[in-house]
Amino acid sequence: MADSVDPTARAEELRALIEHHNVLYHQQDAPEISDAEYDALVRELLALEEEYPDLRTPDSPTQKVGAAPSALFAPVEHRTPMMSLDNAMNFDELVAWGKRLERLVSEDISFVCELKIDGVAMSLLYENGVYKRAATRGDGRVGEDVTPNVATIAVIPERLSVDDVPAVLEVRGEVYMPTAAFEELNRRQEAAGQRLFANARNSGAGSLRQKDPKITASRELSFFCYQVGAIEGGPRFTTHSETLEYLRDVGFPVNPEIRTVTGLDAVYEFCQHWEQHRHDLGYEIDGVVVKVDNLAQRAEMGSTSKAPRWAIAYKFPPEERTTLLKNIMVSIGRTGKATPFAMLEPVFVGGSTVGLATLHNEDQVALKDVRPGDTVIVRKAGDVIPEVVGPVLSLRPKGLKPWKFPTKCNACGGPLVRLEGESDTFCTNVECPQQQWARIAHFASRGAMDIEGLGERSLSTFLNEKLLADVGDIYTLDFERIGQLEGFGEISVRNLRTAIEASKQRPLANLLVGLGIRHLGGTGSQVLARALGHLDRIMEASEEEIAAVEGIGPTIAKSVHEFFANPGNREVIAKLRAAGVNVEGPAAPDEPQTLAGMSIVVTGTLEGLSREAAEEAIKARGGKSPGSVSKKTTAVVVGEAPGAAKLTKAQELGVPILDEAAFTHLLETGELPAVD
Ligand code: IVH
Repeated sequence: MADSVDPTARAEELRALIEHHNVLYHQQDAPEISDAEYDALVRELLALEEEYPDLRTPDSPTQKVGAAPSALFAPVEHRTPMMSLDNAMNFDELVAWGKRLERLVSEDISFVCELKIDGVAMSLLYENGVYKRAATRGDGRVGEDVTPNVATIAVIPERLSVDDVPAVLEVRGEVYMPTAAFEELNRRQEAAGQRLFANARNSGAGSLRQKDPKITASRELSFFCYQVGAIEGGPRFTTHSETLEYLRDVGFPVNPEIRTVTGLDAVYEFCQHWEQHRHDLGYEIDGVVVKVDNLAQRAEMGSTSKAPRWAIAYKFPPEERTTLLKNIMVSIGRTGKATPFAMLEPVFVGGSTVGLATLHNEDQVALKDVRPGDTVIVRKAGDVIPEVVGPVLSLRPKGLKPWKFPTKCNACGGPLVRLEGESDTFCTNVECPQQQWARIAHFASRGAMDIEGLGERSLSTFLNEKLLADVGDIYTLDFERIGQLEGFGEISVRNLRTAIEASKQRPLANLLVGLGIRHLGGTGSQVLARALGHLDRIMEASEEEIAAVEGIGPTIAKSVHEFFANPGNREVIAKLRAAGVNVEGPAAPDEPQTLAGMSIVVTGTLEGLSREAAEEAIKARGGKSPGSVSKKTTAVVVGEAPGAAKLTKAQELGVPILDEAAFTHLLETGELPAVD
């Protein structure tokens, strides 16, 4: 903070800002800033109050939890306050916390490491074993009564499954929306032209806090418990692990990844592991909660007014940040598709600096209502491409106009056309230089003909020099002229020549990918190449014949047929053929179709064959091998270090789980192991 800023005024401003964001987050489920930015405000206020203790008012947000309950729901006073957690933003802060605790007690400390589920804190009350009431945290003292809404969550028991039920049991935990359910909900929202939810946490909170519980019931919510708030007439626990075991026994979902460890090194390992694997779960987490296991030690350590001393939240680095949206531009792809994208003030998020982010199509820009000049929330999660989540409306400068999709292509000046009922807009000029560039770049890319040296830059030069106009021209490039161009020495020309020559031997499936036929991806290309075995047969086949190939649907069949009926495309293919590019596919499979109609998911590493090879083996025998487990899955094959989400889902759905030996047997015979 600059010295010139008056600390009193800044503290007041911070308090107002934090209160504002508390209401948006806790009551309206529509935060305007990312968690990281919110945490930064709180930390700044905490630092000010630390330096100037007089500035610490009793109603300061640093002394409270959450926000007051909204008037939509009846208030519920918690029997014991629902506290918040102190945060550690890095491992040094976590170690400092651990060391402080070690000084407070004489014996060694065992820690329980739990995932910090990014959802809504919930208190569930059971009287004589029967579900009575559910309440949100609210301000920690008084929450909101959401009993009928929470009753719709399938995993929450109506009755406790134990003979000697406690007179009173108050269980606390987190209601969350699984990632797949969030994505599905947003797809539905988009189809209905309705507001998109920014993330799973907001959509979970929004779905829960509905006046009409029928709406909650229509959304897939789930729950993990992590604490007993109160118990009367039940067992007495001495450790947190015992408490969790009891909760699991009486029917509550307890997160399967929880571990009890000794020593901060083991805590660190747990945190590191989940920071790297957070996206392997089927739900969002934003950190790890580390808790002292021994309840007597907890009592010795005590609490501050806001948070217990015996627990801390280790927060992962943010995957959402805000930044300035400098402009919205449109890029033209190889099919002529015009995709709007955001030019951002570069921001470090999700482990890398993001300066560009796709906005998908015209409707997405309108739905998100992002405008050049807005401060926007940018999200980059794991390997997923960065996306603009939405604008921060409170920071929108006055007079900012909604963005309009351009009507002309910025590369060729031709019209940009959006067909009735379609969400995409296209530049329809096949000679558009940007389309030419994108088509050739795609043809030369790794997943297609893999021509090293024909990268984005050299391609632009060749196009400018009119050395080529379509992919057929690659094989008659004038290397003498290229050698005279700036930046192309003898060696680079030779390498390019060799790479182009080598590309003639690529499999037919790669050639099909390279041609960039709409809807035909890598898998479809392989299926076609294997089934029809020669480019001539594919070109001559009728739409019906193509659609009759197992694994090719009517959309792909129509698109492939149209592509080869086009005289311009046939000309290009004639050039490729004349150059000696391979047009023959592998022989049709003679594997027995033992897995026809089955859907087998593979997770983890198998000893005998790679995951890709296992998936290939399934497909070659007529089966499907999708990336996720669903009700339709026939079996899940599990190798070393399987994905936890897939395994849990399989267990939940009762899908058979196979080891490598059972999988080999299945491949050979099509039989699943007998269940005893
Ligand atoms: S323990 C007094 N355990 O994180 C301790 N909280 O930032 C109460 N949360 O209010 C919380 N996963 O809503 C605990 N495994 C977990 C959690 C968890 C998510 C939430 C909870 C809490 C917030 C604090």
